[in-house]
Amino acid sequence: MLSDKLKIVLASTFSLYLKTHNFHWNVEGPYFSQLHELFKTQYDEIHSSIDDIAEKIRMLDTYAPGSYERFQELSIIPSELKIPTSSNMILRLIADHEKMIDLLNETFNVAEQEKNQAIMDFLSGRLDAHAKHRWMLVATSKTGR
Ligand SMILES: [Fe+2]
Repeated sequence: MLSDKLKIVLASTFSLYLKTHNFHWNVEGPYFSQLHELFKTQYDEIHSSIDDIAEKIRMLDTYAPGSYERFQELSIIPSELKIPTSSNMILRLIADHEKMIDLLNETFNVAEQEKNQAIMDFLSGRLDAHAKHRWMLVATSKTGR
């Protein structure tokens, strides 16, 4: 069901928002200021999508989850309990954006089966945003050339 998929998208987006904000706070090393800024740009954009995802769930006449317990049950994004090195922060976020892209594609297919064009359009925007975040992290992870 589309609403069930969107609940996973909401919980996963919230988890990735929190992880990216965590990395903004705790990043260290010679590229501190660039990574601190890049993570801020990304957590701001991710955070700005959360309300819209929850409201899409409400438009399907179901309730939106909104507790850490439910988010932990639903999210596909692994929590970060330790502080990784800056290069591992980048690699983990790349993997997480790839998971988000897969999840959003699956959710798009369900929206298409249910002929919900408004949600298909919304999910396309989220796919584009995560693809852009992923690209910037991949470009940042390359060693100089
Ligand atoms: Fe800050």
